[in-house]
Amino acid sequence: MHKNSGFATRAIHIGQSPDPLTGAVSLPVYQTSTFKQRDFADFEFDYSRADNPTRHNLEETIASLEGGAGAVAFGSGLAAESAVFSLLSAGDHILFSKNVYGGTFRIFESVFSRFGLQASWVDSTKPAEVEKALRTNTKMIFVETPTNPMMQLTDIAAVAELAKNRKLLLVVDNTFMSPYYQRPLSLGARLVIHSTTKYLNGHSDVIGGVVISSDEDLVDQLRFLQMSVGAVPGPFDCWLTQRSLKTLALRMQAHNRNAMTLAENLAGSAKIETVFYPGLSSHPQHDLAKQQQQDPFGNPGFGGMISITLKDITAARNFTQALSVFTLAESLGGVESLICHPATMTHASIPPEERAALGISEGLLRLSVGIEDIGDLLQDVDRGLAAI
Ligand SMILES: Cc1ncc(COP(=O)(O)O)c(C=O)c1O
Repeated sequence: MHKNSGFATRAIHIGQSPDPLTGAVSLPVYQTSTFKQRDFADFEFDYSRADNPTRHNLEETIASLEGGAGAVAFGSGLAAESAVFSLLSAGDHILFSKNVYGGTFRIFESVFSRFGLQASWVDSTKPAEVEKALRTNTKMIFVETPTNPMMQLTDIAAVAELAKNRKLLLVVDNTFMSPYYQRPLSLGARLVIHSTTKYLNGHSDVIGGVVISSDEDLVDQLRFLQMSVGAVPGPFDCWLTQRSLKTLALRMQAHNRNAMTLAENLAGSAKIETVFYPGLSSHPQHDLAKQQQQDPFGNPGFGGMISITLKDITAARNFTQALSVFTLAESLGGVESLICHPATMTHASIPPEERAALGISEGLLRLSVGIEDIGDLLQDVDRGLAAI
């Protein structure tokens, strides 16, 4: 009924029709592992690993927001990635963008490589580098854009073209932008993944993941993996995430607004060596960001993530310790502002030499800008800068 409605309307109504039994507008949490069957093989749901109404509703909402044929939910972003890699077989090769989330590097290098999958890591900011690194056994290209934490962009449409010509699966980790500011399937990607832990849930109280595809057959394969491997999210976590999606549009607008103001402010400080934010005209891929990252009305949007480089680890520590609105913590995308030191936190699993080559220095800090009052955030950062 609302399939062609706007983004915010779909976030509130798709997968969320009032409960037919009671009329409840806020749907119940189907906190059950199993279901009564009417007769042998006569049921709507049989067992919650295979399917659960609350999870099903969440999947329907997310599929609609990303413009996919279906979505398949998992117990974490890494469980979602694991399902995507499990679409392949021993001997297949995946091309990854360098500088992805540290856990993506770890799951591949420490787990999937032991099962005969091969990987190489390329600078996907240059589509020509991606093309050069393709092998005869390449089956998948996996990009994160913007990357965590260096905020580098990959031109999704350009890489999708390369993938399409060779029948490769292009996977985009859209965690940083959310479908409000970036819809990779509309640019030619075949699969999108999210750590729903971040912006989609947005309240730092759930770990979750999801994969969305434009292709019914891939959705079926992922459903089979979801049911067979069993890394499923619980009903209450699905319910919380679906409730959060109702405010995704508003939250993303606020994250974007605050981050833009804060990035401009940080860029004016002589104590900061570099500010990495695609919304700044100084960002080397600002033009691509404007074109690729847009809200559903076509206005450019750059999200809530900013990285900054300070002189060294002492400056980074002094800055962080002086903050009182930003909390030193892993994760991102919640309503509250967080700060993280990638070298010792999110990216600690990447060998130091590789980290250095990626620009993840000891003075690098990543800010997840929340939706607090901007005046308080600006004051907080000023306190941090004064402590350096
Ligand atoms: C971009 C990105 N992808 C994937 C993940 C993994 O998600 P999760 O922590 O929900 O397993 C993260 C987590 O930080 C992330 O930042």
